[in-house]
Amino acid sequence: MSHFDINKSDYDMFKCDVRIYIRITLLADHRFCVLPVLYRQYSTICIELHGKDTLMNIVWHEKTKQFHLYNEFVSYIMYVQPNGEIGQLYFGSRIHDKEDFRYLTYRKPKSMVPVTHDDDGFSMELNCQEYPGFGRTDFGTNAYEIECENGSKVSDFKYESHEIYSGKKELKDLPSTYAENDEAMSLEITLYDAVAKVKATLSYTIFNDSAAIARSVMFTNCGNEKVTLNKALSACIDLPEQNYEWMQFSGAWARERKPILRKIESGIISIESKRGGSSANQNPFVIVKRSNTDEFTGEAIGMSFVYSGNFIATADADTYGRLRLLMGIHPDTFKWPLEANEAFITPEVIVAYSENGLNDLSQTYHSLYNNNLVKGKWKNKERPILLNNWEATFMDFDEEKILKIASKAKEAGAELFVLDDGWFGKRDDDLSGLGDWVENPKKLPGGMKGLAKKVNDLGLEFGFWIEPEMVNPDSDLYREHPEWAFSVPGIEPSLGRHQMVLDYSRDEVVDYIYDMLYKVIDGANIAYIKWDMNRALTDVFSRDTSKELQGQVYHKYVLGVYRLYNKLTEAFPNILFESCSSGGARFDAGMLQRAPQAWCSDNTDAEDRVRIQYGSTYGYPVSSIGSHVSAVPNQQTGRTVSIKYRADVAYFGTFGYELDLNHISEDEFCEVKEQIKFMKANRKLIQYGRFYRLLSPFENDFASWMVVSEDKSEALVGVYTMRSSVNSTDGRIRLCGLLEDAIYAIGDKEYYGDELMKVGLVLNSENAPKFNKEQDGSSCVIQIKRK
Ligand code: GLA
Repeated sequence: MSHFDINKSDYDMFKCDVRIYIRITLLADHRFCVLPVLYRQYSTICIELHGKDTLMNIVWHEKTKQFHLYNEFVSYIMYVQPNGEIGQLYFGSRIHDKEDFRYLTYRKPKSMVPVTHDDDGFSMELNCQEYPGFGRTDFGTNAYEIECENGSKVSDFKYESHEIYSGKKELKDLPSTYAENDEAMSLEITLYDAVAKVKATLSYTIFNDSAAIARSVMFTNCGNEKVTLNKALSACIDLPEQNYEWMQFSGAWARERKPILRKIESGIISIESKRGGSSANQNPFVIVKRSNTDEFTGEAIGMSFVYSGNFIATADADTYGRLRLLMGIHPDTFKWPLEANEAFITPEVIVAYSENGLNDLSQTYHSLYNNNLVKGKWKNKERPILLNNWEATFMDFDEEKILKIASKAKEAGAELFVLDDGWFGKRDDDLSGLGDWVENPKKLPGGMKGLAKKVNDLGLEFGFWIEPEMVNPDSDLYREHPEWAFSVPGIEPSLGRHQMVLDYSRDEVVDYIYDMLYKVIDGANIAYIKWDMNRALTDVFSRDTSKELQGQVYHKYVLGVYRLYNKLTEAFPNILFESCSSGGARFDAGMLQRAPQAWCSDNTDAEDRVRIQYGSTYGYPVSSIGSHVSAVPNQQTGRTVSIKYRADVAYFGTFGYELDLNHISEDEFCEVKEQIKFMKANRKLIQYGRFYRLLSPFENDFASWMVVSEDKSEALVGVYTMRSSVNSTDGRIRLCGLLEDAIYAIGDKEYYGDELMKVGLVLNSENAPKFNKEQDGSSCVIQIKRK
C-alpha cells in the first residue's frame, strides 16, 4: 500500500476541506479502478494503491514472441513474424495486455509471394511491418537499404535478441529525448542479417506520462567487408487501414508552417527537405488523423523528427489497404559506408497518439519537449523579455545609437538587449564579413565586453547575433581558407545572400569557429545568443573528403552544427540560445535541445503572426516560439495594426520588441510599459501552461487560442480579428481545460467552468472590452481567474 498526496488542483476539485481515501486497485491487466472508501474531516487527500504492477511497462511474451509497450495512454504491440523480422500488430489507445494478438495478421492461402517455405500463407506485403527492408516480399516503401560489396541490396534480417531496461540511452552525437529517474522504459530489439553480417538494433522508449514513443535505429557492421547504407530512415508505422488524412506544415520564408490537409488515397504522399536544414518549406512534423478528428475529439498520430537537416516524411497507401508512415534522413542526399565494426545511428522520431483531438496531440509534444528534450539552465524557465535592434537599425549603428535604444528598453521594463547582425568584421551590409567573428572597433570600441558592460550598467542583460555556419567570399576567413566553404571544383558556387556555407562536416572548421566565438564571449557578460543560418546548402562537396565518403557530408554537416552547439552550451551553460534561420527555416525538435527557443518568422506582421504562431503550435511548445512586437507599417507586409494587437499576438511566445522605442508615441510607450508588466506577471502561465487552439485563423474571420494553468485556476484567452465581419453578432468561443464545477471571474462577471466550456464565452464588451470583431486589427487577451 502506498500513500500519495494529490496536488492542490485535484484537491480543489472536491471543493471541501476533507481527507478522501480512494482505493485504486490495479487489476491483472494493469488497468485500475478507483473506489472511494472513506470520507473524513482532514486537509489532504490520500490514495491507497493496491496491486503489483506499474502503469508503464514493456512486456515480452516469450511463447508468442510478442512485445507490448504500454502506459496509461497508448499500447504499442509487435511480434517476431514467421520470417524472423518484426511485424507491427497495434499502435493506438491503451488496450489490455494478453499473450497473443497474432489473429491480427493476414494470411492468404494463395498469396502471390510467400515468404517462408514452411508457412507459405504468410506474406510481408499483407501485414504491418516494423522496419521494412528492400528486396523480399514487402513491396511498400522501404525504411532502409543496405548495399553489400557484391552489389546486392537485398536484406534478410532476423530477430536475434532483445533487452528491456529502465530509463533511456542518449543517442551519440545527436539530440534526443532523455528520461530522468524512472520516467521511461526502453526496449532494444536486435536483428541480424547473416549474409550482410549487419546488426540492426531497433530502439523504443515509452515515457510514463506521455502518449509518445521515441524511436531510432542503429546499424552495426559485424563482418569484415564494407557495406553501404543507402537509406536509413528512423521509424516506420504501418496502419492496417487507410481511412486517414495527412496533415503537413508547409510554407516559405515569411509564411512558415501553414497546416495543409491532404486526403490519403492509394499511392504515395511525401514531404521533404533537401536544403541542408529542415526548411521553411516543409516542417519535419506530420500528423495523420481521421477525417472527423478536429482540435477537440478524434484520433490522430504525429511523427516529429528530432533532427535539423534533410528529411523525408512519407505516407504510402498500398492497394491492399495498408498505410505506411515513414520518417527519416532524406536518402537522396545520404550514402553511408560502414567498415568493419562501424555503426550508424539514425536520429530519433517521436511518435505520438491521441484519441482526443489535435490539441491533445500537440500538448503531448509540448510537454515532452519542455520536460524531456530541452536541456540545461533554460529548461522550463520563463524567458527574458528582450529588445532586439535588427528592425530598428539593421546594420547601421554605433555604440551610442545602441545604448540609446537599450536605455529606452530598460525604461520600458525590458530585461535583455540583443545586438543583431553587423557588429563584426567588415559588416555594414550583407556583402561581406561573415566568418570574421571579431568585433568591429568602429561600432564596438570596447569590444563585446565593453558594450556588454555598458548595457549591464543600464540594468539590462546583454546578448548578440551570430551566423557561424556561413562565410562571405569577401572575408578574411574565406581568403585564408577557401577550401572550407562548400563548392565543387569547376562549378561556380551559388551565393545565397552573398554568402557560402562552411563545411561543418570537417571538425577543424567547427573547432576554428568555436575558438573565434569563444574569444568574443569569454570575459564578456553574455546572457543570450541568437544563432542564425540564412541560406540553404548548395554545391555540397567537401574538399577534404574522399569520393566514397561524399555521401556522408550533409549529415556530418548537421552533426557539426550540433557539436558546436554542445561545445558552446557546455562552455557557457548560462547563455540562452535562440535558433533562427531566415526566420523560421530551422524550427525543428533537433534544435530545441540546445536552443530552447526559435525565431519563428522574419514576418513580424501581427496578423500574419497569428497564422504562423498558430501553425507552429501543432508540433512545438509556446515556450519555443520567438515572437516580438515590431514597428509599423510592417516591414514585410506594409500593414499597420495597433501596438495592442501586436503585443496581444507576441505574448503567446517568448515576447520581446524588435523596434526603437524612442520612435513611438508617448501613449504607445505607456502601453509598452503595461505590456511588459503584463507579460512578466503571466509568462509562466503562457509559456508553460496547457495551450489550446480554439478557432483557426485559416478558417475563420477571427481566431482564438488559450492557455490554462496546470492547476486550472487561471487562464488567458487571445482573440484576434483576421478579417472584419461587419454587421454580425458578438462572437462566442467555447473554452477548454477549465474545471466544470469551479466559478471563474472575468472582469466583474462570474461563470461556471462548464458554462464557459459548453455554452461558450460571449465576446461582448463586458468579457472582451476593446474587442470588436466588426473591425480589422481588433484583439484582446481575456484574463480568467478561479474564484
Ligand atoms: C535573418 C534573421 C533576422 C536578422 C537578420 C540579420 O534574416 O531572420 O532576424 O537577424 O538575419 O542579418
